[in-house]
Amino acid sequence: MILVTGGAGFIGANFVLDWLRTNDEPVVNLDALTYAGNLENLAALQGDRRHIFVQGDICDRALIDRLFAEHRPRAIVHFAAESHVDRSIHGPAAFVRTNVEGTFTLLEAARAYWSALDGAEQAAFRFLHVSTDEVYGSLGPNDPPFAETKAYEPNSPYSASKAASDHLVRAWHHTYGLPVLTTNCSNNYGPYQFPEKLIPLMIANALAGKALPVYGDGRNVRDWLYVGDHCAAIREVLARGRLGETYNVGGWNEKPNLEIVHTVCALLDELRPDPAGPHARLITYVADRPGHDRRYAIDAHKIERELGWRPAETFETGIRKTIAWYLANQDWVADVQSGAYREWVARNYGDRPA
Ligand code: NAD
Ligand code: TYD
Repeated sequence: MILVTGGAGFIGANFVLDWLRTNDEPVVNLDALTYAGNLENLAALQGDRRHIFVQGDICDRALIDRLFAEHRPRAIVHFAAESHVDRSIHGPAAFVRTNVEGTFTLLEAARAYWSALDGAEQAAFRFLHVSTDEVYGSLGPNDPPFAETKAYEPNSPYSASKAASDHLVRAWHHTYGLPVLTTNCSNNYGPYQFPEKLIPLMIANALAGKALPVYGDGRNVRDWLYVGDHCAAIREVLARGRLGETYNVGGWNEKPNLEIVHTVCALLDELRPDPAGPHARLITYVADRPGHDRRYAIDAHKIERELGWRPAETFETGIRKTIAWYLANQDWVADVQSGAYREWVARNYGDRPA
């Protein structure tokens, strides 16, 4: 089996759902259920014995040791993190704790477990660390996209904490020989993304007739990738990635924020017209994010050359699917916004025998 951390969050939940759709290898899913963790994301796995959910903290070494001993995973896929840049500006401590100390704790627990494995199991073991393109810093308009060789220049507390975790992962390979793999991916979008991030926030606000807050001049550029494509890339890297290597993952899809917001508005005009007028009327410019990175773009040639991965979705197909999902799952959004999702565990699991 594999051990997944952060599998109740946006990308982790998509990964676990896709994993169990495409193969039968069980998953132990360790997640602290912070505000970003939502067991409703995994409701489709209710009663599925291949999915073992454990609520717990990646900083809890005793718990991780116990999970390794009990389940003997052949790999760990590490998603758990504090992930929102704006929150990192207001409260960086949680980012250092989870992203740096948590990754350190997992590396140490994995090293102890892996060192004691027999030869074949030891050779097969993998520690896959899921990271971000934000560690590379900000690009100028004419700079080439980020390659794996680009120097790290993190600018936000979020990206700095992820950069620190990437460095620890690298060092545990270099110094101790731990069989690690790192992926650095661009901005994801798709089902189950918490409506604090750009695309789901714009969909939720537009449907509610609320303002669509665009930071600064709206010309900051991100490279958007459909979450299912990110999950497929992680599966490829886990299966065939070269040990100690990092792989950049991106959508070949750079777009300024304003274009993203206009696309969301136009699709909503088509799929859920508002009698009050076009959704774009709600666009409102607000003060910029402090230290706002101007442009991210990924050079995803290495993963294509070595592992044959390319995104399956275009932005046009991916954003349409995403908006259709949010339209069909407005209860999920309402539960997140009201906080009701936090009662899901008690509501759904409270009276269930173990
Ligand atoms: P998310 O915030 O939606 O989910 C994070 C999950 O981690 C939540 O379920 C949360 O409960 C859990 N978690 C947080 N602290 C924990 C702790 N101390 N112990 C155990 N679990 C804890 O994040 P996401 O968008 O799904 O991102 C997942 C990973 O992918 C992160 O490592 C992030 O840096 C990386 N990433 C995200 C993006 C993106 O666009 N969202 C892009 C590239 C990389
Ligand atoms: P976000 O989804 O927070 O991802 P990240 O900061 O990790 O790239 O933001 C994506 C872009 O959208 C980023 O340039 C900030 C911008 N943004 C807005 O303009 N308005 C918003 O309300 C949010 C949340 C983001």
